[in-house]
Amino acid sequence: MSTFNIAVLVSGNGSNLQSLINLSLASNSNFKICCVGTNNPEANALKRIEDEHISSISLDHSKFDSREEFDMQMAMELQKFNIDLLVLAGYMRILSKDFINLFKNKIINLHPSLLPKYPGLNTHEKVLENNDIHHGVTVHYVDEGLDTGPIIAFTKVETMHHDINSLEKKIHETEHKLLPAIVSLISDGRVKLHKREVLIDKEVYKNGKEFIF
Ligand code: GRF
Repeated sequence: MSTFNIAVLVSGNGSNLQSLINLSLASNSNFKICCVGTNNPEANALKRIEDEHISSISLDHSKFDSREEFDMQMAMELQKFNIDLLVLAGYMRILSKDFINLFKNKIINLHPSLLPKYPGLNTHEKVLENNDIHHGVTVHYVDEGLDTGPIIAFTKVETMHHDINSLEKKIHETEHKLLPAIVSLISDGRVKLHKREVLIDKEVYKNGKEFIF
């Protein structure tokens, strides 16, 4: 079987990238990370691939005149690889329409909230301000909206007994489980997107889209 190639886009620390690297190195891994792209040449995430056989694309978005120009350059670099899936793991950029169309149905994003609640930034603060009982993590396909694409899966986190720091830590721990699990399912061909419907094994969806770890 040919290798399932994933590219990961990151902007910062890269702890989620690390969780994908760890799984890709496991003997039973069904995917390979062929490259990591960033809009931030200073991103700590780049250090995580220094000793791995993973290519990097490092472009400083502030050096481009427009979002579209930056995205087209990133797309051109990414297209040098034979990418089956593009994973946004802490990529703090909104993608332009043309970029999304070039990788149609192949882009997924990790978001720290129970979408459709709290798209965008500062989700932990919003959850605590509103005294929500649950916070969580969602993985979804990317469309042109802000965190509005078809949901693949989510995991809930109870907010009880958490302050902002411990809640953030718990969300990160949850992300590090959910994202690799979903990437692995997609690599196995067990998740597909048809129009806006996410098709996935019934066996995998025994709890609906909620993944419980
Ligand atoms: C994650 O919480 C992700 O959900 C959000 O940005 C954070 C990135 O963390 N969009 P890291 O760079 O993977 O450590």
